[in-house]
Amino acid sequence: MKYRNAPLRFIGQKRHWIADFTTIDFTDKIVIDLFGGSGLLSHHIKAKNPKARVIWNDFDNYAARLAKIEETERLRLALVKALEPFNLAIAQPLNDEHRAVIKSVFSSFSDYDKDTAQAWFMHQMAVIDIRKDDIKYYNLRKNPLKKCADYLAGVERISADFRIVLEQFRDIDNAVFVCDPPYIFTHQATYRKKKPDANEKDFHGSFGLKDTIDLIKGIGDREGYIFTSEKSELDAIFELLNIPYKHLTKSQTMARAAQYIEELYFINGATKTKALKNNRDLLSFAA
Ligand SMILES: C[S@@+](CC[C@H](N)C(=O)[O-])C[C@H]1O[C@@H](n2cnc3c(N)ncnc32)[C@H](O)[C@@H]1O
Repeated sequence: MKYRNAPLRFIGQKRHWIADFTTIDFTDKIVIDLFGGSGLLSHHIKAKNPKARVIWNDFDNYAARLAKIEETERLRLALVKALEPFNLAIAQPLNDEHRAVIKSVFSSFSDYDKDTAQAWFMHQMAVIDIRKDDIKYYNLRKNPLKKCADYLAGVERISADFRIVLEQFRDIDNAVFVCDPPYIFTHQATYRKKKPDANEKDFHGSFGLKDTIDLIKGIGDREGYIFTSEKSELDAIFELLNIPYKHLTKSQTMARAAQYIEELYFINGATKTKALKNNRDLLSFAA
C-alpha cells in the first residue's frame, strides 16, 4: 500500500512533495534519508525504486511511535465512544465535564502515542508544542489509525546525528543523500532536542547555521537533494563554498496558519539535471 501521509502525525513530513519527489530516479543508488522524520520520503523512494538500497535515519525514534499505533487506535475508539453523548463538533472548546471523561479514558491506557493523542484535544490551528498536556478543544478525528506493517518494508533503519551518518556513507559509491533538515530560522519545537550520546559533541538543540554548513561540507562531493525554506539563503552558502548546485523546484506550504515557501536543491549532480515537473502545489520552478 502507498501512504499519502505518514501513519502517525509528524510536523514537517513532506506529503506535499511526494508527486514531485517521486519523479527523481534513484535506480541503483544507495539513498540515505539523512533527516528521515516520519519516513515518508523513504517509503516513497523505496516504493518507486524497489532495487535501490534506502536507509532511513530515524533520529526521533519514530519507529517506537509506530509500534504503538494499535494501542493508540484502541484509545481513539474508547474516546469516541465515551464522548459520543456530548455530540461535540471539531474545534469546540471543552468544559470540565468533558475533560473529566477524557482523563478517565486516558487513565486506563498507557502505551499509546502521546504526540498523536495530544493533538486530539488541541485547536487544529494551534502553534503546536506536543509536550504540552492541554485538553482544550475537541479535535478527535473519525478516521481510524491503520496498521502499517508494510510502511517501511525493505527500508533499512539507522538512528544517529547526521554527521555520524555522513561519515559512515560518504565514501560509498552510488551514495546519494536526501536532506530534509529542520529549516534554520523556523519553528523547531516538535523535533528531538536532547544530545543523543557522548560522540555527538556538536549537537546543541535547535538546528542552526553551523549545522547547515556542517551538512553541506559533510556531503563532500556526493550527490545531495536538499530541502530548505526560502529564508535559509542556501544558494548563497553553496556559492561561498563553491558547491555546484541546481535549484530544482519550490513549493508553497501551509503550516500553523501561515504560508511559506520551501525549496529543493540538488548539489554535486550532473549539469543535465532538469527542474522537476510542476504539480498543483507548486508556484513555479527554476529552469
Ligand atoms: C523536516 S523534518 C524531516 C521530515 C521528513 N522528511 C518527513 O517527511 O517526515 C527534520 C528531521 O530532522 C531531525 N533532526 C534534527 N536534528 C538532527 C540531527 N542533528 N541529525 C539527524 N536528524 C536531525 C528532526 O528531529 C526531524 O525529524
